[in-house]
Amino acid sequence: MKNKQDNIIDMFDDIAKNYDLANRVLSFNIDTKWRKEACLKTLKLINKDNLKIIDVACGTGDMILNWVKFSRNSKILGIDPSINMLNIAKKKLPDEIKLIQGEAKSIAIDDNMVDILSIAYGIRNVVELDSALNEFHRVLKHNGILVILEFTKKNNENIVDKIASFYTKHVLPVIGGLISKNYKAYKYLPDSINDFLTLEELEYKLKKIGFLVKIKKRYIANLCSLIIAQKTN
Ligand SMILES: C[S@@+](CC[C@H](N)C(=O)[O-])C[C@H]1O[C@@H](n2cnc3c(N)ncnc32)[C@H](O)[C@@H]1O
Repeated sequence: MKNKQDNIIDMFDDIAKNYDLANRVLSFNIDTKWRKEACLKTLKLINKDNLKIIDVACGTGDMILNWVKFSRNSKILGIDPSINMLNIAKKKLPDEIKLIQGEAKSIAIDDNMVDILSIAYGIRNVVELDSALNEFHRVLKHNGILVILEFTKKNNENIVDKIASFYTKHVLPVIGGLISKNYKAYKYLPDSINDFLTLEELEYKLKKIGFLVKIKKRYIANLCSLIIAQKTN
């Protein structure tokens, strides 16, 4: 029988074809701005060229498109377990970008090799979260940067947060379901946010592993969070 992680990966295989369209419609195109901002803030912080960048849970390659556009002379690798998502990424990205099938918990890279590791809307889907965060720490160089963009759980909701939550819980699954013809996959989104960590809990975990959070930001009714953290030990 398939386990929870396999089912999540199968779900992305199933929705891969319409994933980009659904993202653009459901986020009113704001998701592209959040990825861009995450990349620009990170590059400003690191302030170097010739970087080794890996994008974990790269999906259809939207985060990589930003690394390609804004970093200079970088070597970029995308990793994702869903072959259908990777196949779409392959069509969108320049040939020199290497893409490999794999999971966040075991990255096929030696220790201390990477300048930037990004994961956009991916970490919430990783069942073995602690193993993955430790793996990110292992492959990053000393002072390397971890970039996490994710929908995080909220502690207390004000009125604007409540409206945003209503949208993700009740409107988004219907529209996402129509576009992807997979209602369950878009019902999974709010459920998985609810099962995930708050920004503070994620930050605490990162500190325990040996990251120093340099930048954190919340977007749109505290729905989405950006964490940029540095490997310090
Ligand atoms: C919501 S998509 C995000 C894709 C892309 N990063 C983006 O910004 O659009 C989540 C991705 O996480 C991948 N994923 C699921 N489980 C994973 C795991 N255990 N390790 C790494 N990636 C995983 C899925 O295959 C999917 O491509």
